[in-house]
Amino acid sequence: MLVSGRGSNLQALIDARIAGLPIELVGVFSDRPQALALKRAAKAGVPALCMRVAEFGEEATYQRAFFATVAASRPDLIVCAGFMRLIGDAALASSAPMINIHPSLLPRFRGLHTHRRVLQAGESAHGATVHRVTRELDGGPLIAQVSVSVRATDDPETLASRLLPLEHRLLVACVAAAACGDLTFAPNGDILHLGRALGAPLQLSENDELLDCG
Ligand code: GRF
Repeated sequence: MLVSGRGSNLQALIDARIAGLPIELVGVFSDRPQALALKRAAKAGVPALCMRVAEFGEEATYQRAFFATVAASRPDLIVCAGFMRLIGDAALASSAPMINIHPSLLPRFRGLHTHRRVLQAGESAHGATVHRVTRELDGGPLIAQVSVSVRATDDPETLASRLLPLEHRLLVACVAAAACGDLTFAPNGDILHLGRALGAPLQLSENDELLDCG
């Protein structure tokens, strides 16, 4: 897992693993030493490492070293959750499939401050998306989504706190689907669900199934 901050999505995967999800968390990698995620990993006995860009000078050199270290842990899947870097082509080409969780119903509201922007735009629905990572920020092929209604009384904090538990369930469902082979990643960038290329993002059901509505 690639992280920069709080690590609540990491914690959701740690908890799911403890509850029986058959995954191995082979490493947690951060670009920020103060990331709470590093502490969560250490507490759970997951190997955790921080590499700072300042130690490497320029971004491209840093990313080569960072992703070589990630690759050395031999992940089958790389999960970005709150990892605050734009990942370059070289890292993407040489890595295991990489997914990211983003707090909006992509392709709407890429980038930062999504809760505030959704409220400012007067949207009635908000949500989270798991997508494949490409060089375009929050722009890769969509895998799965979960929605939440926006309330008239919401502020960015209430909206974020209602969405976050759903984000966790969505990410766990996607990782579970990848772990059991329901979700696969073709070399050409296609995402297959149960062997079929996805036409539309899967939708998280109330009982945490990923429904193909395409
Ligand atoms: C989440 O809201 C995720 O969707 C976004 O960054 C946040 C990370 O939270 N990409 P955490 O570090 O997993 O708690």
